[in-house]
Amino acid sequence: MADFDFASRIIDIPDYPEPGVVFKDITPLFADAEAMRCAVEAIAKPFQDAGITKVIGPEARGFMVGVPVALELGAGFVPARKPGKLPRETVSVNYELEYGTDTLEIHADALGAGDRVLIVDDLVATGGTAAATGKLVREMGAELVGYGCILELAFLNPRPLLEEDGSVRFVSLVQVQ
Ligand code: PRP
Ligand code: ADE
Repeated sequence: MADFDFASRIIDIPDYPEPGVVFKDITPLFADAEAMRCAVEAIAKPFQDAGITKVIGPEARGFMVGVPVALELGAGFVPARKPGKLPRETVSVNYELEYGTDTLEIHADALGAGDRVLIVDDLVATGGTAAATGKLVREMGAELVGYGCILELAFLNPRPLLEEDGSVRFVSLVQVQ
């Protein structure tokens, strides 16, 4: 599984959504049942014995990867949503994207002390979304165990931000140098 060819199922779209950005389209990987299953298993595997109680997926593509990874780990799933989408009391965090800024919200009662959390997304670019979500996890009193994604834009150097002093594990299946 480690040598599964995920990369050939990701399409580069130059200058989308704005000039200078090469958008990585992971929808072909999800349209391929075997690739999707292998990706989910490969993200979950390093965390199999980590006692993960909750997987968080940032809206929207983080839902696509986060829910099956949570099932694979026998953990619950918590959505981190764009502003105004969650119906009850929320905690929120602002963060920077490769293109622009945004805010994510989590239900205030969704996590707490005793939760061990894995944050999962399709892609990590600057690491801003993942790091902001990790900050929120800790503010809620839960333990941040790690991050998992399919694609890491390594040329944007997100790894030091996410791994911190080495206490947080960051797993990516494909790295773009
Ligand atoms: C994309 C992607 C990650 C984030 C990565 O989501 O799914 O969540 O950007 O970028 P970063 O590492 O620089 O923070 P986006 O905010 O575009 O939302 P979407 O999933 O709704 O398309
Ligand atoms: N999110 C942030 N940067 C991205 C990129 N280059 N391609 C796809 N999604 C992204």
